[in-house]
This record gives sequence, C-alpha cells and structure tokens, in this order.
Amino acid sequence: MTAKYNFDKQVAVVTGAAGGIGKAIAEKLYVAGASVVISDINEEKGKQVAEELGKRAVFIPCDISDPAQVEGLISSTIRHFGILHIMVNNAGVNGILPEERVTIDRYPNNTWHRLINVDLSGTFYCCKAAAKTMISQRHGNIINIASVAGVVALRLQIGFVAAKAAIIKMSEAMACELAPFGIRVNSVSPGSTITDVTRQLFYDDENDKSDLASRILSFIPLSRPGEAEEIADTVLFLASDSSSYINGHNIVVDGGWVSGFNRDF
Ligand SMILES: NC(=O)c1ccc[n+]([C@@H]2O[C@H](COP(=O)([O-])OP(=O)(O)OC[C@H]3O[C@@H](n4cnc5c(N)ncnc54)[C@H](O)[C@@H]3O)[C@@H](O)[C@H]2O)c1
Repeated sequence: MTAKYNFDKQVAVVTGAAGGIGKAIAEKLYVAGASVVISDINEEKGKQVAEELGKRAVFIPCDISDPAQVEGLISSTIRHFGILHIMVNNAGVNGILPEERVTIDRYPNNTWHRLINVDLSGTFYCCKAAAKTMISQRHGNIINIASVAGVVALRLQIGFVAAKAAIIKMSEAMACELAPFGIRVNSVSPGSTITDVTRQLFYDDENDKSDLASRILSFIPLSRPGEAEEIADTVLFLASDSSSYINGHNIVVDGGWVSGFNRDF
C-alpha cells in the first residue's frame, strides 16, 4: 500500500477500528506515517489489528457508549503518545434483525435506545473528550462517520436515520464552536460499503449478487457498493492539510446514491 498523504509524527485515534471501515482508516493512516490508536469494544480483533500494523499502533479498548471509558481512551492516548492530532469517530451499530427493520409503530424501544446510546451519544462523548484535549493543544482534527441514512431518510431504520442525521448536525455545530481553537470538524457519510459483515449480505456462496444487493444497487448510479478503502481515502483527505479550508462539511461517499432519483420517468 502506498500513501497519498504524509502523517509523519501525527497521532490518530480511530474508534471501531477492529474491522470494516475503521480498520481501513487505521491502516491507511498508519501507512501514511501516523501513530494510531486502534480502539474498539472487540479486544481480540482490535489487538490483532494493532499487532499486524506494527510499532506505531497500540490497541486501547473502549466502549464508546460509556463516557468514563471514553475519557480513559483519550487520557491513555495522551499518556502513550503525548498529543492527539486526529480523532476519527467511526464506531457504530445498526439494528439488523428482521424485528428491528420495521416501521415506527413497531420499532423496538430497546433498539432505539441502543442506536442512540452507541451511535449518537457515543460519538458525542468521543468528540467531547477529544475537544477538551485539542482545545488545550490549540489544534486538532475531528472526523465523524455518519451515513447516507443521515442525509436521506431510509424506511425501517428510524433509530439509525435519527442518530446519523444528528451526527452530521452535531459535527456542524462543533465546527462553529471549535474553529477558534484551530480545530476542524467534518463528517463522512458512506453509502453501501463492503466490509466482512456486509459482504455476506451482498454476495451468496457462488459470489453472485443477492436479491438485497440487486435492490440496493439499483439505487446507486455507479452500480456497485463502495469499498472500505474508498471511505478511508476521504477520511485521510479530511485529516490532511489538503482540506485545510474545509470545516463543518459532510462528504457523502456513495457512488451517487443521494444525488438524485436513479430511475427513468
Ligand atoms: N458499511 C456500510 O455500508 C456503512 C454505511 C453507512 C455508514 N456506515 C458507518 O460506518 C461505520 C463503520 O461501519 P462498518 O460497516 O465498518 O461496521 P462494522 O460493524 O464492520 O465495524 C464497526 C466496529 O465498531 C465496533 N463497535 C461497535 N459498538 C461499539 C462500541 N459501543 N464501542 C466501541 N466500538 C464499537 C465493532 O466492534 C466493530 O469493530 C459505522 O459508524 C457505520 O454506521 C457503514
């Protein structure tokens, strides 16, 4: 893997970095020279990712829905590396069981609370803890991973839609508040992105597209799902000086999904 950016001597924290998009972000930051904190609730996979990367990577466990653990993540990062340049808030969950993919009148309260606790409050705790440190440093860069579901509402995922829309607005509010301290805040909204988890939903055992995949892809002008590396590339752009005047923006990385109604009239 070759690097487009140089993050030499920079320190980054990536939450949810044990797999999927978070792992791709952590790998790209590492290859570009950053020291990277791999953080996740999944200790086994998180440790493995950090070990595979090398000496500039450490694993720090953290459940982002627990504010005390999030404070611990940032203080451990500072103890270990002395500084925090880039905070990537990627960890997130969605309701995937059939009983969780229902209209609001039947939407389970516990699914609602789980998604709000992890996706929204967890991202808020991470931003808050990172902002405290970055304000004292007078520099920093926060990137929150939202979703196309936060830009255009999807049916049967009301908890996810609400949490991701709030992440986009929260990022804008923080961009206004933190700019005077030299801190930029942006969000990235992936469309359907292939990870080990979503690959099973998209392709059957013969590697043919599933019915679900065909339905989703019919909405995507580029007619393919995104790769985790394509989301990571956008995160690295926002983390780099190449985006030095971009603040409070949400970059949608979705093959054109939300740009229009992909049907002929
Ligand atoms: N893959 C997609 O199609 C897609 C689309 C839109 C948005 N996203 C968003 O991108 C981000 C990453 O998604 P992904 O597809 O790589 O997911 P994933 O499930 O593959 O990875 C998420 C990671 O977050 C970790 N995690 C879950 N709960 C946590 C918690 N409470 N504290 C800390 N870590 C926790 C998991 O252990 C996992 O390693 C999420 O915020 C997701 O909502 C993904």
